[in-house]
Amino acid sequence: MKDKIISALKFRHACKEFDPAKKISEDDFNIILETAHLSPSSFGLEPWQFLVVQNMDLREKIREVTWGGKKQLPTASHFVIILYKKAYFMRFNSDYLGWFMKNVQNLPDEAIFNRSKFIETFQKSDFELMDDRALNDWASKQTYIPLANMMTVAALLQIDSCPIEGFVAKDLEKILAKDFNINMEQFGVSCMVAFGFRVNEQKPKTRQPIEDVIKWYN
Ligand SMILES: Cc1cc2nc3c(=O)[nH]c(=O)nc-3n(C[C@H](O)[C@H](O)[C@H](O)COP(=O)(O)O)c2cc1C
Repeated sequence: MKDKIISALKFRHACKEFDPAKKISEDDFNIILETAHLSPSSFGLEPWQFLVVQNMDLREKIREVTWGGKKQLPTASHFVIILYKKAYFMRFNSDYLGWFMKNVQNLPDEAIFNRSKFIETFQKSDFELMDDRALNDWASKQTYIPLANMMTVAALLQIDSCPIEGFVAKDLEKILAKDFNINMEQFGVSCMVAFGFRVNEQKPKTRQPIEDVIKWYN
């Protein structure tokens, strides 16, 4: 088990091109999606949505505004765009958060009241998230947790992946509004991730020495 984890982490690399003839099985891809679904989030508010883009015409449109995924987009077995929920949903007093705590988290009214107060203090003073940009960034950064979980679990299944932030966000958001019918007042794009099977050998990994990135205080 321990060896399996380390070898999966070494197997995972930012795969630049996939074999278009090789498809991920439905079972395996469902596990990858379930990994995203079960990922943790601040206050459990799940500030995300995942778009699985299998339509090749849509992928081509995305490719036109993407410099970091030119080969991945047409060759990936499965391609996912990760959206974050904007201030419209995520502000402490939004209708949505009230709805979410009641209907998803099944909290009683008193707990919703108390939790809302907590979230208010967190957003107003602990993390100073009062302007929309700060609140959007707070939501967006959480989406990198499912991103990482999906790629790690894919690697455990011997499936390759590539995270992609190499795109012009405002141009991609225009495409999402027009061709995917996404309300960009409510959602923003965090990043994308391609899954499939490599055609080329991976390059040797470069990392800083571990003692430079991990500091212990005993
Ligand atoms: C948030 C994020 C965005 C990235 N965007 C791109 C991208 O647009 N295109 C690409 O080929 N690689 C992209 N990468 C991959 C990184 O360049 C890669 O993870 C890093 O160089 C380390 O290499 P490794 O993942 O192969 O170990 C991205 C990685 C992350 C975490």
